[in-house]
Amino acid sequence: MRSIVFGMPIVSLCFALVVNAQEAVNYPKRRQYQLDRAISKDAKECLDCHRKEHPGLFEDWAASQHAKTNITCIDCHGADKADRDISQGHFEHDKTAIAGVVTPKDCSRCHPDEAKEYARSKHANTLGIVWKIDPWMQQGMNNETERISGCYTCHGSVIEIKNGDIDPKTWPNVGVGRMNPDGSKGSCTSCHTRHRFSLAEARKPEACGQCHLGPDHPQEEIYNESKHGALTSAYRHGYNWDAAPGCWTPGVDYRAPSCAACHMSGSGKVQTTHDVTERISWELQAPLTIRPEEFKPFPAKTNWKTERSKMQDVCRQCHSKRWIESHFLQLDNVVQNYNEEYFKPAKKMLDELYAKKLLTKTPMFDDEFEFEYYELWHYEGRRARMGAAMMAPDYTWWHGFYELKKQLVKLQELREQLIETGRPIRAKNFPGRCTATTPPWRKGGGASHK
Ligand code: HEC
Ligand code: HEC
Ligand code: HEC
Ligand code: HEC
Ligand code: HEC
Ligand code: HEC
Ligand code: HEC
Ligand code: HEC
Repeated sequence: MRSIVFGMPIVSLCFALVVNAQEAVNYPKRRQYQLDRAISKDAKECLDCHRKEHPGLFEDWAASQHAKTNITCIDCHGADKADRDISQGHFEHDKTAIAGVVTPKDCSRCHPDEAKEYARSKHANTLGIVWKIDPWMQQGMNNETERISGCYTCHGSVIEIKNGDIDPKTWPNVGVGRMNPDGSKGSCTSCHTRHRFSLAEARKPEACGQCHLGPDHPQEEIYNESKHGALTSAYRHGYNWDAAPGCWTPGVDYRAPSCAACHMSGSGKVQTTHDVTERISWELQAPLTIRPEEFKPFPAKTNWKTERSKMQDVCRQCHSKRWIESHFLQLDNVVQNYNEEYFKPAKKMLDELYAKKLLTKTPMFDDEFEFEYYELWHYEGRRARMGAAMMAPDYTWWHGFYELKKQLVKLQELREQLIETGRPIRAKNFPGRCTATTPPWRKGGGASHK
């Protein structure tokens, strides 16, 4: 019944018209929104005014599952007058305190499990990780403009409130690890954009591909060239993307898994999770591949074998044990090959040149050798490993091991040159630097941005 009042899905509407033509039931031709269940007067005011102010935003909300269950603007945007982030200008229209920022903490009122799982994931905690390990940040090798429009758009900003208003340099932002004024981390809209907050959207590979692409982590490209990706693009119109939460069933609702199906959705015995760090058995993005529990900046709390078996249970819905175990054996061999044949020799040369003072440890990236070393693990090294994990041979070989060979040979030549001439080629005026080398959430960190 609900769906008749709040806009019927297109498919069932067509069906209804055909079937009922003979019965001469007069179905409305235009969709009507009627709010005929208990909605407070305050909540109704928001809807009435915003329906005129932002018709696009209103219709998007009206088509959501939230609208169908009478979750309205005020349920998410309603704020306490004492909150730091309330929208000051809004009092001109309305006396209710509202906040523009809606955080995982706000959603957790009704979705506590998703929020709890999300909070422990690498997604939510990425800013802390980045500031612990990244030379771009620690050594100020890029400036604020580059960080805001680059890094922070994917990883998240630290929202700052200045004079009662949000600092426009930190907002808008829907990065996965956004730090919110209420202390919570992340932004649920990274995958479920407002105001549809759709399950179907988050299940599609495009939801992840916004961030998971490019030379350093081409998961979307890898997926598109894999058998799973090819099948999904061939059959996607027949997939039942709208299955109820936790009921999205392999084989029944989809022929081949999307990113979400392998990394997040429930499947067989494996429960749905909002912690993407589950089901992972290697740190494939790291310079030297290690186990997640050995990743010092953010060690996984569970054993890699437990997580691997969860991922394998997902595969088991469609594949035999031998198929799956052989796939993982091949992945482990690729990891070993990358670590031993390429990464360790490159790292050995780097350390040797640091020891001989032919390179300077700080700043990073002022020597050609350092750039080339970075690309070896950060670009081709990741591509080889990610390609093997997710069945994309073109990435494993042509964009991976082939490039790794070329890169290692180049590093060997650069090393010889450095040793022969004894003269490093060093950039004197490294472009686009800044002095903000501590996290913005530490006292003085943000203020020293220039
Ligand atoms: C009489 C009209 C009116 C009413 C009633 C009203 N709003 Fe607004 N609201 C506006 C206008 C106008 C804006 C500013 C739009 C802009 O700047 O483009 C706005 C902005 C907002 C924003 C964005 C704030 C920001 O900081 O970005 C939110 C969220 C919002 N309203 C929610 C609500 C909620 C929730 C209610 C009910 C408690 C409500 N509004 C009631 C007219 C109204
Ligand atoms: C389920 C929670 C939820 C509901 C319900 C909801 N919003 Fe939002 N709204 C959000 C989130 C999340 C954002 C993005 C803010 C963020 O990233 O922190 C947002 C953003 C906004 C913005 C700023 C968007 C922009 O692009 O400028 C406005 C304005 C707004 N909402 C108004 C409304 C109005 C009006 C309603 C009711 C018709 C409504 N919201 C219902 C969660 C909600
Ligand atoms: C006041 C309670 C409430 C709040 C706050 C709330 N939700 Fe919901 N949410 C619901 C209810 C109720 C449903 C519908 C459940 C159903 O259909 O079985 C729902 C459904 C959903 C769904 C599934 C939609 C689908 O397509 O089936 C998503 C995703 C979702 N919410 C995300 C969010 C996010 C993100 C926030 C915060 C920005 C949020 N919700 C805030 C109550 C809430
Ligand atoms: C297009 C979105 C995007 C941009 C822009 C981006 N990143 Fe990332 N970053 C990612 C994704 C996705 C990953 C996860 C890679 C993986 O696991 O394969 C990642 C991983 C990382 C990691 C590794 C974390 C770990 O657990 O080892 C660091 C560090 C990092 N990024 C720093 C940065 C910095 C610094 C910038 C800006 C100079 C930046 N990123 C720009 C999306 C982005
Ligand atoms: C990295 C992408 C991503 C982010 C970020 C994300 N979700 Fe989801 N969410 C998904 C996917 C994928 C599903 C579908 C799971 C399935 O197939 O049943 C989902 C499902 C849901 C559901 C339906 C119930 C369930 O658990 O299956 C709710 C409610 C929900 N998300 C709320 C949230 C809230 C609240 C946040 C923020 C704390 C959030 N999501 C952040 C990807 C995401
Ligand atoms: C067939 C299942 C499957 C699909 C589909 C899939 N992945 Fe993966 N993914 C894996 C497996 C298996 C690994 C390696 C896990 C391990 O470490 O044991 C992996 C690894 C990753 C990693 C590396 C984690 C790390 O840091 O080591 C990221 C990031 C990732 N996948 C994201 C994605 C995205 C984004 C998509 C969609 C564009 C996707 N995956 C599609 C199975 C899948
Ligand atoms: C807004 C950007 C963004 C979106 C959207 C996004 N991710 Fe991520 N993801 C990241 C970043 C950034 C990291 C790196 C976190 C780190 O290691 O510090 C990451 C890391 C991961 C990892 C590695 C976790 C680990 O422990 O090594 C997996 C797996 C992953 N994402 C899967 C997904 C899937 C599946 C989706 C879609 C349902 C998705 N992501 C959507 C930005 C994003
Ligand atoms: C929803 C079903 C489904 C799930 C879940 C699934 N796959 Fe597949 N997979 C398929 C189908 C269908 C094919 C195509 C088989 C063919 O070539 O005839 C395929 C193909 C493959 C291939 C062959 C790739 C190639 O290029 O030849 C490998 C390897 C594979 N899957 C491994 C996995 C692994 C590992 C997992 C779990 C991480 C997994 N699959 C999860 C359905 C699935």
